[in-house]
Amino acid sequence: MRICVIGAGYVGLVTAACFAEMGNWVVCVERDPFRVARLKRGEATIYEPALEPMLKAHLASGQLSFSQSLAAGTAQADVVFIAVGTPSGEDGSADLSHVMAVAEELGAVLQQPCLVVDKSTVPVGTAERVAQRINGCLGKRGKTFRVSVASNPEFLKEGSAVDDFMRPDRVIIGCEDAAGTELLRRLYAPFLRNHERLLCMGVRAAEFSKYAANAFLATKISFINEMAGLCARLDVDIEQVRRGIGSDTRIGTHFIYAGCGYGGSCFPKDVRALIRAAEQEGIEPGILRAVEARNALQKTLLFQALREHFSGHLQGRVVALWGLAFKPGTDDLREAPSLVLLEALLAAGANVQACDPVATSGVAARYVQALESGQLRLSESPYGVVEGADALVLVTEWKQFRQPDFARIRGLMRMPALFDGRNIYDAKQLAELGFLYRGIGRPALGRCLAGAA
Ligand SMILES: NC(=O)c1ccc[n+]([C@@H]2O[C@H](COP(=O)([O-])OP(=O)(O)OC[C@H]3O[C@@H](n4cnc5c(N)ncnc54)[C@H](O)[C@@H]3O)[C@@H](O)[C@H]2O)c1
Repeated sequence: MRICVIGAGYVGLVTAACFAEMGNWVVCVERDPFRVARLKRGEATIYEPALEPMLKAHLASGQLSFSQSLAAGTAQADVVFIAVGTPSGEDGSADLSHVMAVAEELGAVLQQPCLVVDKSTVPVGTAERVAQRINGCLGKRGKTFRVSVASNPEFLKEGSAVDDFMRPDRVIIGCEDAAGTELLRRLYAPFLRNHERLLCMGVRAAEFSKYAANAFLATKISFINEMAGLCARLDVDIEQVRRGIGSDTRIGTHFIYAGCGYGGSCFPKDVRALIRAAEQEGIEPGILRAVEARNALQKTLLFQALREHFSGHLQGRVVALWGLAFKPGTDDLREAPSLVLLEALLAAGANVQACDPVATSGVAARYVQALESGQLRLSESPYGVVEGADALVLVTEWKQFRQPDFARIRGLMRMPALFDGRNIYDAKQLAELGFLYRGIGRPALGRCLAGAA
């Protein structure tokens, strides 16, 4: 099949590469000339495991190409996917300006009928608006054909996006016409060979399903975080409780890890958009508001714990941060809990030494002044950043942080205090090694014995 994917971000790039992997001819259209130039050289513009080798292979085979021109990208397309961003608008609703601009451009360049598919996360009714916009423009150009617009929300997870796309839990297709549904069924068939998980439904239900899924997952996280807050007061370890409830198959083990809050490009903005949508319909979104409020609070907990630990005096303290990306496996910093902590520490006068395997350049671009003044130091070495530190904070649980050499760390730190924002460490073991340990919703353990530095 001949496919055009519009937008070469986290979703568009993975979609384009994975469709090419299955033998389709894919043109990925991106408006950013720098991204297009790098992509044409086979460089992945985002960090996503397994993506770059696929890009290189399919650029070489000619199966995949990149362009800035929508006219060229859509010239022979059977299917056009819209995968541009839908960030939060000022009032929290989804900002559809990129999607509607693409609709306008499609109406101006399409030369032949094709199926247009919204892959971006968009509010209910957007596909209808996109169809109206495109077809309105086609009419003005005197074209006699019209396009239909389907919804095919994306459920990939950054950090395992290629794998998720190649082996989806399910594929949702919202399409009102039989030919469009059949086209998408054929396109996705190679991804669903050993399990039939194609769910066909109305366009509006497909659009809503994506928001409901993200809101539910965010709710699970905020729920367990609220339980963690209570555990901390009751001298109960939330980790034991997590195992206790997760073994119930009705609850399940996923998304019930207490931590320093969720971030990323989806949950925060999608919860906000759903709140706004409910408000517009006169429905009080009490659960969603609570989810959001709990998450905002959760993102401040590590700073509160540090402030308490240093009796309110953070000025001049050296704090090491492990993990900056909003989750492991990605360089995405959008709404990352690390940034809330980093900004609070800088404002309080602390010196921050932060480490992340792939996200330091994004942080460097945002905090130029702090870097220049030396208040912020960035490194890819976990041991480098703990040198001389008064506290170490684990924010993002990359694999390389899971089983470090704690004896070495203790020797490098000035004061061995460890704040575990993801509850991945063995509190007892750390206390035995001479660390003060504090997790989220876990009893504090150990005393802060002075290190060697
Ligand atoms: N990131 C995720 O994990 C994820 C997962 C599922 C769904 N989604 C949804 O998918 C959509 C895209 O998310 P993303 O994270 O890939 O966004 P992104 O910001 O990483 O990428 C969007 C890309 O579209 C490009 N673009 C914008 N307007 C354009 C135009 N007119 N022509 C060509 N290119 C244009 C931008 O330059 C950018 O490269 C959003 O609606 C998001 O909610 C994201």
